[in-house]
Amino acid sequence: MTISKNVEEILGRSSFIRKMFEEGARLKAEHGADNVYDFSLGNPNLDPPAEFNKVLTQAAGLSDEGLHGYMPNAGYPYVREAVAKTVSKEQNAETKGGDVIMTCGAAGGLNVILKAILDQGDEVIVPAPYFVEYGFYAQNHGGVLKTVQTKADFSLDIEGIASAINKETKAVLINSPNNPTGQVYSKENLSDVGDLLKDKSEELGKTIYLISDEPYRKIVFDNITVPSIFNCYRESVITSSYSKDLSIPGERIGFIAVNPEASFKEDLLNGMTLANRILGFVNAPALMQRVTGLLQGAHVDASEYEKKRDILCEGLEAAGYNFIKPSGTFYLFPKTPIDDDVAFVDALRDELILTVPGSGFGGPGYFRIAFCVADETITNALPGFKRAIEKFR
Ligand SMILES: Cc1ncc(COP(=O)(O)O)c(C=O)c1O
Repeated sequence: MTISKNVEEILGRSSFIRKMFEEGARLKAEHGADNVYDFSLGNPNLDPPAEFNKVLTQAAGLSDEGLHGYMPNAGYPYVREAVAKTVSKEQNAETKGGDVIMTCGAAGGLNVILKAILDQGDEVIVPAPYFVEYGFYAQNHGGVLKTVQTKADFSLDIEGIASAINKETKAVLINSPNNPTGQVYSKENLSDVGDLLKDKSEELGKTIYLISDEPYRKIVFDNITVPSIFNCYRESVITSSYSKDLSIPGERIGFIAVNPEASFKEDLLNGMTLANRILGFVNAPALMQRVTGLLQGAHVDASEYEKKRDILCEGLEAAGYNFIKPSGTFYLFPKTPIDDDVAFVDALRDELILTVPGSGFGGPGYFRIAFCVADETITNALPGFKRAIEKFR
């Protein structure tokens, strides 16, 4: 064997994703890309806001001394300040530049947080369905992912989380707006989690962290706002990125912010800064730090995704699909009309519609539609969605 047993095993488990890509590529080659409706990937289809290219061109033209050198592992201090101002508003808690670490996206942020807090065997509780990479990230740092199903409306099951907590629990990792369900947790639901973690931390004599992964915070609909995490629980850390709200996932830029009131804030920040270095990120991409530092407050027009959601939801409802309308993100997570979600995704594929089975997200009996595609792709796929469900009536 040339690669580790662990990676070999992960490759095996992830093979359905690879198979899906291969199948998608084969169908596109056979039928023409325009005739295949690809809803499989969360790759934003909107262009970055117009200011992005302007600021990028400006930033690329600079030639100050030392511009391309190493920098503090946590990022440029002035960029951290700029991000902290935005976080202060969004979290309704005064956050300083020193509370922020620039990262290689939210994926980099999560790995940095987990590296800094996990010891071998520590458990990370995640509400399911969930972003499947979480399991790999926890495992990267000796952690064990423990899933707790959300309620039927995909809200957090506080009793379920309570019974999953034990002396090995190090963190609860939440994601709102959520991939794959598109749901946004309410302030009450988040406060209940905060109260629970406070009580359990006291009872167990340890700190249980609340990690909030929120790259979709700005992609919300129907004029809702995403509640503050910092106001709900003191021992909290958020990570976010510009992948989705500026439509630049390939640029790998994001950040971590620690609750300014966290008990062990300095330890956390020192640990995470070190983790950013020794995981080999060293620092977040310099050019993108400069650009996003200047673009605070800019984001894609979420109403474009809202329009796509409405076209999709109206069409699927008329066809008889059962789902909870997403309040954010660009994902819809309907029930499959049969228990076997993989078989239903195959039936959709026969209609040249590519989606992902819910089992891949710890949510069997559902499937995920990533609607970050052209409006026409949605409209043109609706007859196929209808034919597929009708096969199971
Ligand atoms: C819930 C969630 N967290 C994290 C990420 C990683 O995002 P980034 O590109 O910022 O690393 C994604 C990407 O799809 C995601 O859906």
